[in-house]
Amino acid sequence: MLRFIIFLTFFIHSCVGAPRTPAAAAAVPAKKWLTLNGLEPAVVARGGFSGLFPESSAPANDMAVSTSSPGLTMLCNLQMTKDGVGLCLSDIRLDNATTISTLFPKAQKTYKVNGQDLKGWFVIDYDAETIFSNVSLIQNIFSRPSIFDGQMPVSAVEDVLGTKPPKFWLSVQYDAFYMEHKLSAAEYLRSLQFRGINVISSPEIGFLKSIGMDAGRAKTKLIFEFKDPEAIEPTTNKKYSELQQNLAAIKAFASGVLVPKDYIWPVDTAKYLKPATTFVADAHKAGLEVYASGFANDMRTSFNYSFDPSAEYLQFVDNGQFSVDGIITDFPPTASQAITCFSHQKGNLPKVGNALVISHNGASGDYPGCTDLAYEKAVNDGADVIDCSVQMSKDGIAFCHDSADLTASTTAMTTFMSRATSVPEVQPTNGIFSFDLTWAEIQSVKPQIGNPFTSAGFVRNPANKNVGKFTTLAEFLEFSKAKAVPGVMINIENAAYLASKKGLGVVDAVKSALANSTLDKQSTQRVLIQSDDSSYTLLQFTHTQR
Ligand SMILES: *[C@@H]1O[C@H](CO)[C@@H](O)[C@H](O)[C@H]1NC(C)=O
Ligand SMILES: *[C@@H]1O[C@H](CO)[C@@H](O)[C@H](O)[C@H]1NC(C)=O
Ligand SMILES: *[C@@H]1O[C@H](CO)[C@@H](O)[C@H](O)[C@H]1NC(C)=O
Ligand SMILES: *[C@@H]1O[C@H](CO)[C@@H](O)[C@H](O)[C@H]1NC(C)=O
Repeated sequence: MLRFIIFLTFFIHSCVGAPRTPAAAAAVPAKKWLTLNGLEPAVVARGGFSGLFPESSAPANDMAVSTSSPGLTMLCNLQMTKDGVGLCLSDIRLDNATTISTLFPKAQKTYKVNGQDLKGWFVIDYDAETIFSNVSLIQNIFSRPSIFDGQMPVSAVEDVLGTKPPKFWLSVQYDAFYMEHKLSAAEYLRSLQFRGINVISSPEIGFLKSIGMDAGRAKTKLIFEFKDPEAIEPTTNKKYSELQQNLAAIKAFASGVLVPKDYIWPVDTAKYLKPATTFVADAHKAGLEVYASGFANDMRTSFNYSFDPSAEYLQFVDNGQFSVDGIITDFPPTASQAITCFSHQKGNLPKVGNALVISHNGASGDYPGCTDLAYEKAVNDGADVIDCSVQMSKDGIAFCHDSADLTASTTAMTTFMSRATSVPEVQPTNGIFSFDLTWAEIQSVKPQIGNPFTSAGFVRNPANKNVGKFTTLAEFLEFSKAKAVPGVMINIENAAYLASKKGLGVVDAVKSALANSTLDKQSTQRVLIQSDDSSYTLLQFTHTQR
């Protein structure tokens, strides 16, 4: 555990660093947030840094504060014990995030909650003493680290308030249920005199109305939470989708709304982002702030974000059309960084330190590797060095491709299966090798996006599966020159085999392509040569290159 904490201190929130070029610095426009009040969108930590630690545990809350924007809002989901003590837990059932079921294995019960039967160990059946002294927290999302399970006590609302987070948000999910069981969130809040509570949210209109006066006096902001559009709001018995039609009516008792993120940017079943709804514009027009929930670094989102959680945050806060007023996230440092460092940069991201960003087959996570599209994207994404692994066609064309074997990275299997051979000098398994096909034959197949992490369940954007064109080494160098890329890396493999067995001089091909391009004569563009083979390949370069 100690090692873990030391590691984490590295992502303490900051965004030092200057824009890449002075020209870029001048081009960055003055910040202008399209939020309701023009202020920077709020980062709201759901149960602290709950992506890592059990939600609302002391380490989750501490780490959220120390790694996020200074104005962080800490969110706690209120649950109430039999004796009226407020706990920070997102589920009404203790077994969701604690060890309760091992303590009382036979005590499972069923209650009707908002019209639905739920089974579990309900918070209302236990007094605070039992929970604090005998129960500990566990991680409730199974894909997250379980190493902290059983070590930390459940936090009371007052525990979290006592740490004086910059802002505090209390989410009250089940007041109607608690009222049926003679517990009242409103009374509980009055007992705290709303002190230190900046925001209260609830999906229940009756509850928000019942605390309106007190909240107003205490200057606590009230937020109405929309649940799933088909779910029923307990006070009005209307669907949330119906309530959405009259946002002005919500403004009468709340200053903002909280919605699952797909109310704003819906995602289709194939995981592509659909056009934005008018939700934010409509709510802003009604004078309501908009908070979006459901953000986490470790959940599959739309292919449009390329597995980049920052890209998703930017879609909500920096899309040129609107910005939400706050983001509810399990990973607050990532949201903080996206908002304070990456917004309003339009590709001119600040560069920190001197480490070079070197592409791997261009932007091969977005497009088939080494294609024109992959290189274009890598340059647009700010790579300092783009790379080309040089392969040879049978007729001596040097081109960029991940490997000499085309089976996994192109559609060659469909056309040239009969040309598969065994070349143990190159790889132990059979392959369809570029040096056995002419350049025309290679160009007749399509490049294919690599999916190296399919065993972990990651599939890259199917829309880009077979797009882009193969790039010759000469085209690669010309492109690099035209784009003024700071550097290129040329990787040479199998040179000895190609020269001795196939009569193909890959080293010579690279040398003449470099000599022909004007690239290597420009002192500002760097050429890096990489090879797995020092005696054969690199020696020939160390003697002849500048
Ligand atoms: C706890 O509840 C959350 C949210 O409803 C759910 O995603 C998660 O799977 C639950 N975990 C357990 C252990 O029940
Ligand atoms: C809870 O812990 C206390 C002491 O910390 C102990 O006396 C009590 O028996 C425990 N209760 C249960 C149900 O284990
Ligand atoms: C998401 O990607 C798909 C496929 O490339 C594209 O058709 C769609 O327009 C994109 N969505 C948005 C909102 O940009
Ligand atoms: C030499 O460069 C020109 C463009 O600068 C290009 O058209 C040509 O194909 C290159 N020749 C070789 C052998 O790389």
